[in-house]
Amino acid sequence: MDRLIVTGGRRLSGSVRINGAKNSALKLMAAALLAEGETRIENVPRIMDCLTMAEVLEHLGAKVTWDDSTLAVDTTSALGIETPYELVRRMRASIIVLGPLLLRHGRARVAMPGGCNIGSRQIDLHLRGLESMGAEFSYEHGYLEASARSLSGAVIYLDYPSVGATENLLMAAVGATGTTVIENAAREPEIQDLAAMLVEMGAKIDGAGTTTIEIEGGGPFGPARRRVIADRIEAGTFAIAACATRGDVLLRDARAEHLDLFLAKLADAGAEVHPSAEGVQITMHSRPLALDFVTLPYPGFPTDLQPQMLALLAGAKGTSIATENVFESRFMFVDELNRMGADIRTEGHHAVIRGVERLSAAPVRALDIRAGAAMVIAALGADGTTEISDLHFLDRGYEDFEGRLAALGAEVHREPSMWPEASSG
Ligand code: EPZ
Repeated sequence: MDRLIVTGGRRLSGSVRINGAKNSALKLMAAALLAEGETRIENVPRIMDCLTMAEVLEHLGAKVTWDDSTLAVDTTSALGIETPYELVRRMRASIIVLGPLLLRHGRARVAMPGGCNIGSRQIDLHLRGLESMGAEFSYEHGYLEASARSLSGAVIYLDYPSVGATENLLMAAVGATGTTVIENAAREPEIQDLAAMLVEMGAKIDGAGTTTIEIEGGGPFGPARRRVIADRIEAGTFAIAACATRGDVLLRDARAEHLDLFLAKLADAGAEVHPSAEGVQITMHSRPLALDFVTLPYPGFPTDLQPQMLALLAGAKGTSIATENVFESRFMFVDELNRMGADIRTEGHHAVIRGVERLSAAPVRALDIRAGAAMVIAALGADGTTEISDLHFLDRGYEDFEGRLAALGAEVHREPSMWPEASSG
């Protein structure tokens, strides 16, 4: 029921510690199901999505305990095979327990994850890959019923380097009989983080981070202790916020090597970018310059930084063109930016952004996690005080976002709202 009140025009400066990566932590939590006993995962962000994944694991019978940002997942009595619709509708990533459940129990019953505001979000590549390993699927009352007497190694060609499909297949293949090869695999740093934890649990994996991953099936697996990598998308979000306010911010613990192309684009926009052992220093002295970018699977420009980049380029000198190649409806939020005086036209996968001198404050909504972050960035640079509603999206992906921005000098606070929130959709 809350809304964020942001008064624009304050320059961000100082340093912010970048939390562990949401899109890795969720998968490491699911991977804990592969072993009996207590797995400890450090540097887990306290965000809604991680709390939801903890609920998924508890629903399966695991015991989950938080100690600050360390999570202990004890799967000794995790005998459940079902993830209920109530949890899957809150977070599509719940589908990631499919591989581990099939391997551990030979069965799984997972509510079908519907689409979301950014696209149709198919899972056909997950299912086709698991079928080629011997799994069988049927659908009943919105649930996917999965079974596999045993899983056997296979050579799997992914039509598209899907992050989720690569991760589900990886977790199924580590315990299958024989060798599995995943061709055209996703290469995201989060995949490498998952593979590293699986190896610590006893798996044999080669090529994580490349387009060809080879897994020699084996097991059993033991519990592990793993520290989640820094969140490159959170780092990128704070970097863009620094640029939008002509700020000077150190992103502590950020890994520049996970953000190469993105940081090069920020430099093209006029930012000074200085990686160091401590993290990455971002400084912007003047109005950003227009530029073109194209979202692609890693190591391309991350789609999860596209909305934030549009918020920055809305105030740039000149006209920019953005092309979204990963999610078909990821420009839905543009109307909210145009409500703040931006001049953005979209046509299919392309957005043309004519930079304006300054955005002006208006009441807007967060339409998903990253679009929410984009609205906050737009508000930080805008003239006047902006109200942002539907904060549950922001809370899904960012821990204490407004508190950390305020610590950098932003004028931002959260206020209870009288109006009910729109459905999460
Ligand atoms: C992960 O989603 C991330 N989520 C997303 O971050 C991120 O945008 C995405 O990877 C791409 O980088 C998590 O890790 C929890 P995909 P995922 O499978 O695994 C199509 C955020 O804001 N596809 O690589 O769902 C699909 O429809 C979120 O943190 C199929 O067609 O992404 C999409 O268009 C948003 N069939 C494209 O591939 C399939 O079986 C990319 O999906 C699978 C995917």
